[in-house]
Amino acid sequence: MNAVTEAANRSASVGDLIVKLEQVVKEYALGKVTVPAVRGVDLEIRKGEFITVAGPSGSGKTTLLNLIGCVDTATRGTVLVDGKDTGKLSERELTKLRLFTIGFIFQSFNLVSVLTAFQNVEFPLLLQKSIGKADRTKRVLDLLEAVGLKEHADHRPGELSGGQRQRVAVARALVTKPKLVLADEPTANLDSATGKSIIDLMKELNETQGTTFVFSTHDHEVMRRAGRVVQLVDGRVVSAGDESAKTSAGGGAPENDSADDDKRAEDGAD
Ligand SMILES: Nc1ncnc2c1ncn2[C@@H]1O[C@H](COP(=O)(O)OP(=O)(O)OP(=O)(O)O)[C@@H](O)[C@H]1O
Ligand SMILES: [Mg+2]
Repeated sequence: MNAVTEAANRSASVGDLIVKLEQVVKEYALGKVTVPAVRGVDLEIRKGEFITVAGPSGSGKTTLLNLIGCVDTATRGTVLVDGKDTGKLSERELTKLRLFTIGFIFQSFNLVSVLTAFQNVEFPLLLQKSIGKADRTKRVLDLLEAVGLKEHADHRPGELSGGQRQRVAVARALVTKPKLVLADEPTANLDSATGKSIIDLMKELNETQGTTFVFSTHDHEVMRRAGRVVQLVDGRVVSAGDESAKTSAGGGAPENDSADDDKRAEDGAD
């Protein structure tokens, strides 16, 4: 590879990126104390990547996903999502970005307790007002089936186990076919077989539809299957795992089975 091609490969053009963070800081005010949760993060995520954010408890993983997902705003710095500077968007524009571009699987699920599993998954489609009832019903039932919950469509969250609730949250995040899925520990409450089937489903969407996935996780199996692992410590990126990202041109990132990466994944877990 000549020097020019190498340089071009190294610096992804803005059009290749779904997320770009520049010097992002997030501080929480706790009474008179300021808690720095994210301390100056630069990060680029290309369209079609399948990446994990790893790091000890309290290192800022959830905060970072909340900033990318526009459910929280940065104290300083720039958060670009799908080419839009989220700090400059109105509430209405942010709502549109969250509804049409992003799917979010929250660590605490955030399901609506009075709605059934079916209705929780259907909810974003009702807000979008983009497809009719018959198509909507089919899409919701197909996804509930894909996460192994078709039989539980009429159960409310209170009538489901933690793992089942997590899978409803996964289905709800995927139902709008978003470009970018942010998943905060999506397998934390699942047994290993169910966790694997959920990751298989996401990997398939990544490969067939080019959906970008960003996970936070402590799960070694999820890290092993990621295109790269971004390591956070005390609100800072200590490794962006860029080497594997550079080799993944467009589409889904390759599965990463090398011993080195397993080692790196293990080093990042707490
Ligand atoms: N709403 C908040 N108010 C005050 N401090 C907060 C708030 N949310 C998070 N923090 C603090 O910010 C830091 C990062 O928290 P965060 O939840 O992002 O970590 P995490 O890496 O997701 O941890 P875990 O693995 O336990 O989920 C922690 O020190 C936490 O106590
Ligand atoms: Mg967290």
